[in-house]
Parts: sequence; C-alpha cells; structure tokens
Amino acid sequence: MINPLRGMKDLTFEESERFTHIVETATTIAKHYGYGYIETPILEETALFKRSVGDSSDIVSKEMYQFEDKGGNDVCMRPEGTAGVVRSFVHAKLDRQPMKQKFYYYGPMFRYERPQKGRLREFHQFGCESFGEASVYEDFTIITMISQIFEALGIGFDLQINSLGCTTCMPPYKQNLVSFLTDTKEELCEDCNRRIGSNPIRVLDCKNKTCQSLLVNSPKLIENLCDACDADFKQLTKLLDNASITYEVDTNLVRGLDYYNKTAFEFVSNDIGSQSAIAGGGRYDKLVEFLDGKPTPAVGFAIGIERIMELVKMPELTREGIYLGAMTEEAVEKLFAIATDKRKETKVTLEYSSKGFKSHMKGADKVNARYVVLIGEDELANGTVWVKDLESKEEKTVLVGEF
Ligand code: HAM
Repeated sequence: MINPLRGMKDLTFEESERFTHIVETATTIAKHYGYGYIETPILEETALFKRSVGDSSDIVSKEMYQFEDKGGNDVCMRPEGTAGVVRSFVHAKLDRQPMKQKFYYYGPMFRYERPQKGRLREFHQFGCESFGEASVYEDFTIITMISQIFEALGIGFDLQINSLGCTTCMPPYKQNLVSFLTDTKEELCEDCNRRIGSNPIRVLDCKNKTCQSLLVNSPKLIENLCDACDADFKQLTKLLDNASITYEVDTNLVRGLDYYNKTAFEFVSNDIGSQSAIAGGGRYDKLVEFLDGKPTPAVGFAIGIERIMELVKMPELTREGIYLGAMTEEAVEKLFAIATDKRKETKVTLEYSSKGFKSHMKGADKVNARYVVLIGEDELANGTVWVKDLESKEEKTVLVGEF
C-alpha cells in the first residue's frame, strides 16, 4: 500500500464538507467586499519567492519544495499565495491601470516543515489581496472582513496587531535594534545570533524563553514610528475600537515573510494547540515595485483552512432532496427520466435495485432525503408515483409529472 507523503493529507467525507463550507462562506463574504477570483500556478520560478518572501526567511531558506525541472529551470511549489498574485498582477500590467484591484484565491501551499498538529507540509489557504489603496481604511476593512468570516463560521479569535513602519522609520530602528542585540549577543540563542546579521527584526519573534526575556528590554518600533506611520497606526486602533473589534498590540509581531511594512496582524485561537495562528496578513506597499511593477500600495491576508477546520461549527444538517426507488424490477428504468428532470433543481439519490418498501425507507433515511418517491406495481400501471415528505410526514400518490 502506498501512503500519502509525510505532512500531507487526503481530504474526504466529513472533512471535505467542512473544507467546502469554509471556502464557500469566505468566498461569499470576499465577493461582498468586491474581491474577484484569481488562480495562479502552484509551480513558480524559485526567484519569485526569494525576492518576495525573502532569502533569509525560514520559509525560503529551509522549507521550500524546490527542484530543477526537466528543462533545467529552478522552480518551487508555492509556499504561500501573495507572491504569485503579485507576479500575475505585474505580468498582466494591472499596475498601470488606475483602478483598484482586489483578488481572492484558495488552494494548496507547500512548506517542508516538521509536521505536527496543525502544521502540514501541504496545507490550504484562503487569501485576499487588495491593490492600489494606500489608506489605512483598507487595512481596517480587511481586518473587519476576516472577523466577519470567522463570525459566520462560528469561530472565536484573538487579534494581534503591530506596525512594521516604513522605509523612513524602519532603517534607524533596525540600527538601534542591532546595537541592542549585539550587546546581548552572548545570551541569545544560535538562531538569533545568525539573524542579527541577516534579518534582525526576526529575532523579535524568537520562541526561545531566554531570548524572550532579554527582548523585554529591546527598543520597540511602535515607539519609534515616523509621524505618518504613527498616525496610521493610531487611526487603525481608533477604527477597531469604534467597531468593538478587540485586539492586542504585540510589539514583537513581525511575521515570517519579509515583504510587510506598516500594519501587520495575526488572528490566533486558543482552542487548537501550539499552532494557534489561524490567519495572518498585513500591508506590503513595496512588493509590486520589488517584482518590477509600478509602485502600488497593497494589503492582504490568508486564512489557514486546515487550522480552522477544527474550529468551525457546521450548520445543522437538514433533510434535503429526493430519494427515488422502485419496488418492482420493471419500474427501475422509469426512474431515470424523473431523476434527470428533478436534478435540475435538487439533489436526487437514485437507487438502481428494486427493493421492498422498508428497505427503501431506510435508504432514504441514510442519505437524509427530504422526500421519498417510490414506484411499485400499481404506480407503474397507473403512471403515478408515491411521494412522502419525511419532514411533515405527509404522503400522496400523484401523476409522474405532477410532483
Ligand atoms: P502566513 O502567516 O505564512 O501568511 O500563513 C497564513 C496562514 O496559513 C497561517 O496563519 C496559518 O493558519 C496557515 N499556515 C501556515 N503554515 C501552515 C502549515 N505548515 N500548516 C498548516 N497551516 C499553515 C502568508 O502566507 C501570507 N501570504 C498572508 C498574506 C496575504 N499577507 C498578505 N497577503
């Protein structure tokens, strides 16, 4: 027997119902916010992720499904969705159009991480990317949209926000941070020591307890933002307060991808164990430019579908559709025309073998049908069907074309 690869899962039965429910709910809400569907390839040039997610990020330096294809190209299975959407945006020259563009997507992402509960090597995201809007109103709107998706799915969450500043305030802050980290170098873990040179901001979200206790005294970017970033962050918190969306400012929230600036956020749940981030995102105003497009402000997010599958409250199952059966062999072929007709409007379960009454009633119950429609000898002779509504318990015999 051949097993699925480690960290990869089949999606079947009840789980696939959950998956579909999540995607459909998120899609409906995203459309209400003006997002249109985009699908980009799973396989992209490796350079795309190196340039966008960042060479020194864990995702690119340790977790990529990267290989040479038969044509000798250096390619990679996408570890996330934003880079591909931005590449597509630039490729289609949408950066040269004046109007704002909003895209949603869902699909598999690949990261060669150590699998554990809530952490897979193939997982699925539902994401949205909004291009062309620099106002912090858009950051607020996106956070509201995610809250609305979680509310519709019956999922509770905590929201953490931070600002990662901009090209004015980030460089002097980085210098400050590096000198603080250099002074505490000896006590910091190996990973942090490596990051001081390559990506000092990432030291802030090190999970090592000793590093965390040292970082309590580190300089905070939120206290060193330039006037514009500071005003935006204050505006965002005011809008969240007014909308009664509770949040916590986490000055160490830096996200694992290098393209962010200004607003960064994460939605976490306390009900799913250590891999508690259920959605993450933020602003990435420089990425379009970085991928050779015209400067275009942008903001987006992605939800981890597998993580919220554990939390989602499914709507109560209601009886649905028709169960069609014959009680005499000769009637079986009469069922096809009825099924084809009724399938234009509802779900039909067609039983191919003729069976006794009780057997059919059990079958209808098993598939949770609303109506049982049966043809026996009498019905066959009279061109009628016997119909029972399993909710109201009403039953009747009517002409074939009349139910
Ligand atoms: P991310 O935080 O890396 O952001 O991933 C978003 C969500 O994907 C996480 O919050 C988590 O729920 C889920 N996730 C990540 N890795 C795994 C894994 N190994 N197994 C299961 N679920 C996982 C991004 O990917 C950005 N592209 C989000 C974004 C869009 N920012 C702006 N636009």
